Amino acid sequence: MGSGAYADTIKIGVVGPFSGPFALQGKNFKAGIDAYMAMNGATIGDDTVEIIYRDLPAADPAQSKALAQELVVKEKVQYLAGFYFTPDAMAATPILKQANVPLIVMNAATSAIVTKSPLVVRTSFTTWQTSTPIAKVAHDAGVAKVISIVSDYGPGIDAENAFKAGFEKEGGAVVEAIRMPLSTNDFSPIMQRIKDSGAQGVFAFLPSGPTTLGFVKAFNENGLKSGGTKFFAPGDLTQESDLLALGDAALGIQTTFHYAVSHDSPENKAFVEAASKAIGNPAELSFPSVGAFDGMNVIYKMIEATGGEQDAQKAVDAVKGLSWVSPRGPVSIDPESRHITQNIYLR
Ligand code: PHB
Repeated sequence: MGSGAYADTIKIGVVGPFSGPFALQGKNFKAGIDAYMAMNGATIGDDTVEIIYRDLPAADPAQSKALAQELVVKEKVQYLAGFYFTPDAMAATPILKQANVPLIVMNAATSAIVTKSPLVVRTSFTTWQTSTPIAKVAHDAGVAKVISIVSDYGPGIDAENAFKAGFEKEGGAVVEAIRMPLSTNDFSPIMQRIKDSGAQGVFAFLPSGPTTLGFVKAFNENGLKSGGTKFFAPGDLTQESDLLALGDAALGIQTTFHYAVSHDSPENKAFVEAASKAIGNPAELSFPSVGAFDGMNVIYKMIEATGGEQDAQKAVDAVKGLSWVSPRGPVSIDPESRHITQNIYLR
């Protein structure tokens, strides 16, 4: 355990999908973490940082809690981080207080996660942030009627509500709102419902991975795109690592998001260089890498502020209001909500 005056190893437990259909998303966590440590070193003062990874291939709250507990009790990690899916992040929050461990959410995007414990800090995004501005884009494109389609769990429901609120404010109407099970992989029946709805545009949210790739392909293959239906979404739907597989199917889709690999800034250039090296194939880079990179920045500040001591509340308090220039642009940690405040870009 840390005592400031002695050299310690500070362990960070990272939970994410490192195998299975979402393995590329976990690989991006690791690339972001590796890039941060390559650029900033593995030591803070006298203390050395060690990352311990745990694989959680799919949304599985019970397993997430078990892994978080094991990391805290057996590995004695001082920080928990990662968490791709919302239910997994939620499930780990009840153990934080007693364990005296902060949790840094590097991807999960449901707004309510930060309310589950005062020891949660988010460096990813919320689907409220990413799905609100696309409503104005849809309205400005001359679309009056939209059908909304989301995965039926936290970030999908937040996305549906955010889009609807934004679109109605612009004077548009959501003519139908479909929530489909997270496990859905045959999208043909949904495509038929889009055709039947009479909507001029689709708003959609699904978690990035094979899900989004399948959905966008189905939109194309079922003749929605050629039939003139417009497609609006948060950037999860066209993550950069899917673009090669999507090809022309991605053309014309408008998305709003907190990050683009192509973001033009010196900070992003340095990040993409280091993260590309870490991931091996630059075409595999996607947004979870920047959530992880910025998550490491927050953890390093926490370690600095506590002098390596294990004091979760002091660590979290130290980053309230923290601002820095991320590869995604200027960001800060909101002192009240512990969400990240950031720009949202039209892509
Ligand atoms: C989530 O489960 O919160 C989640 C997962 C993948 C995304 C966005 C949100 O692309």
